[in-house]
Amino acid sequence: MRYITIALAKGRLAELTVDLLEQAGLEVDELRQKSRKLIFTDEKNKFKFILVKASDVPTYVEYGAADIGVVGRDTLLEDGKDLYEMIDLGFGACKMAVAGPAELSGKLDGMSHIRVASKYVNIAKNYYQFEKKQSVEIIKLNGSVELAPLVGLSEVIVDIVESGKTLKENGLVVLEEICDLSARFVVNRVSMKMERERILDLVDKIKKLLPNQ
Ligand code: PRP
Repeated sequence: MRYITIALAKGRLAELTVDLLEQAGLEVDELRQKSRKLIFTDEKNKFKFILVKASDVPTYVEYGAADIGVVGRDTLLEDGKDLYEMIDLGFGACKMAVAGPAELSGKLDGMSHIRVASKYVNIAKNYYQFEKKQSVEIIKLNGSVELAPLVGLSEVIVDIVESGKTLKENGLVVLEEICDLSARFVVNRVSMKMERERILDLVDKIKKLLPNQ
C-alpha cells in the first residue's frame, strides 16, 4: 500500500488540523512534538504529513506532491488552482474584508482613485472588477497590511479579519465584507481517482466529526 500524503498549512490552522486527523484515527503524535522537521509518517495507516507554508499548500496538491491539503479558503481563492474541495472544516472561520479609516465609510463608491493594499491581490482584483466594477490600484504587500492606510501607502486594505483586534488596535474598521473564509480539505484530481477508497474513507470519518455536515 502506498503512502497518502497530506499537506498541512503551518501556523494557525496546523494544530486544529492535527487534532482533527487524530480524531479521525491517524497517528499524529510525532507532529505534536516541537521540532524543525517538515515530514512525518504514520506507519500504521500509511499516511505522510508534510508541513508547508499556507500559501504553498495548493501548489503541493496540484502537482501531486501531496494527495490532500488542508488550507484556508483565502489561499484557495487567491491561488485559483484546480483542486477538489471536499470538506468545509469550519475552523479558522474569518472574513475577507475591505478595511480602512472610519471616515471613508460610505464614501468608497464615489471615489475615482482608490489604492488598495493587500496580500491577496487576485481576490482584491476580482472583487473590484466583477463585484464593484470599479477600477482601483492594487498594491501587493506581504504582511502587516494594516499599516498601509496609516502611513499613506493606500486608502484601504483587503485582508482577513478574524477577531477584529488588529484593525481596532490600528484605528481601522471594516468598510465592506467580501466573503466568509474557513479551512478546507482539498484533494488532487489524480489522487482522487487512484486512491478513491482510502481518501473517501478519511473524508467520511472527518465529516462524521464535524457539526452540520
Ligand atoms: C492576519 C491578517 C490580519 C490579522 C487578522 O495576519 O492579515 O492582519 O491576521 O486577525 P484579527 O482580526 O484576529 O486581528 P497574520 O497574523 O497572519 O500576519 P501578517 O500580518 O503577517 O499577515
